[in-house]
Order: sequence, then structure tokens, then C-alpha cells
Amino acid sequence: LENHVVTMSARILNTEYIGNDWHLLRADMPVPGLGRLNVNSLLLTGEEPIVVDTSLAELGTAYIEKLEQIIKPSSIKWIFLSHVDADHIGNLRSLLEVTTESKILTSFLGFGKLMLQGFDASRIQVVEPGVEIFINGRQFKILKPPYYDAPETIGFLELNSKILFCSDCFGAVFNDEYSNIDEISDETLKAGLDNWIKVDTPWLKSSKKSWLVSEIHQIKSYDSKLLLSSHFPGKIEKIDRMLDSLLDVYVSISQDAGKELV
Ligand SMILES: [Fe+2]
Ligand SMILES: [Fe+2]
Repeated sequence: LENHVVTMSARILNTEYIGNDWHLLRADMPVPGLGRLNVNSLLLTGEEPIVVDTSLAELGTAYIEKLEQIIKPSSIKWIFLSHVDADHIGNLRSLLEVTTESKILTSFLGFGKLMLQGFDASRIQVVEPGVEIFINGRQFKILKPPYYDAPETIGFLELNSKILFCSDCFGAVFNDEYSNIDEISDETLKAGLDNWIKVDTPWLKSSKKSWLVSEIHQIKSYDSKLLLSSHFPGKIEKIDRMLDSLLDVYVSISQDAGKELV
């Protein structure tokens, strides 16, 4: 890295309507030496609008303006935080100021970490994997994604639309810009997943193959229509293709894959 200085240059990208009142607010940021990483936030409009994660602080007003193109940000009632890493809570303080009646939904550890950062406990409601909540006319099953970089991480299955959100899981770092998994070759998809796993969840290579296979079966059992990652360009409709690619990447990096029966 030249002079050991890394300059961040986050970019706001397009917002994609993904159906059933869900919007994918896309941005990206550089991962030095590897390419660029998508950073997604979600918005579900309705009676009690929900934002899922709040993108990158560097975007600031550009992120709020993207929300404004769809709804009045002051009408947002829920801010679901998958975890409290900087790339997921970048605009949380400004959103809490704009949305005076909104509540944060996060896990118990997420709550603790937010308290340590000085957030107001009265604005936080704790949800844990396994529970189902009914908000904004939708039923959400809170779950733990297969792999993550922070133990407070939660995702969800939105049961009415069958949309599965898995936070950092299924993220990928690419050299080129894509808007959909269909534009990405098998080889590039696997390289992108591999890049992100090496950066974000290097522990995956030491996990048991039987564990990953059971996690993949679990994902398949949700019978979801759309898979969303915080760090993948666009929605993922071909979920089996993603799961097969993940297993291939795991086998290529695993310390266990050759030694264990599936
Ligand atoms: Fe993270
Ligand atoms: Fe992340």
C-alpha cells in the first residue's frame, strides 16, 4: 500500500426494487488489493417502514437522499441491525435523529455493543434467533446465518415474501461491477466468495464439512424465493447455485473437507 495510506472511496450505487415492497439500496467500497465490496441496506415500505442496516458513514447525506427518493425517512419505524459492524451502522445516528419514533431491532449482544457506544437503550428492542416477530404486516423468523464475522449477527426469513437475508454471509469481492448473479461466471463467483471469506470469515476453513452441509440443508429448508446478502451485488434468485459455489469454495480452502464423510 503506497505510503501505508488507504483512502476510502465509498460509492452510492443504484437502488433496486426487488418486489413485495422491498428495496435494495446499494453502495460499494474498495477492499484494497482485492476489488470492491457491495454494501447493501434494505427498505421495506408500508405502515411501519423498516430499514435493514444503515450502510456506510462515508455516504452520509447521499444515503439519506436515497431513502428520500422512496419514502419520508421520518416515517421509518424500525431499524433492523444484523450486527453492529461499522459497515452496517454507518448512518444509524443520523437515522435515529430523523426518525424520532423508530426502534432498533438487534440481538442481545448487539444491544450490549450499542450501549457501549452510547446509544439510547430505550430505542432498542432485543430479538434473538428462533423467535418470530410480526411487524409492518409481515412475519419475520429471526435466524443465525451460517457464517458471520461478529457473534451478535442475526438475519431473517420474511415469511410472506419468502425473502431470506443473511447479512455478511454470501458476500463476495469482485474486480468488476455487477448488478446480478446471472452476469457472473462460475469461476468469478467462486473467486469473489473466496476473497470475502479470506478477509471476513477466515475461520470457515477450519470448520467441519458436516456442519457446513447441515447449514446448507437448513437454508434449503426455508424454501426462500430470494436470498440477500449485505455484500453481494443484487438479489440472488438462483439460491442453489450460490450454495453449490459456497460448498466448492469451502472444499478448496478447507482443512477438513478431504477427511470427513458428508
Ligand atoms: Fe460484519
Ligand atoms: Fe458487513
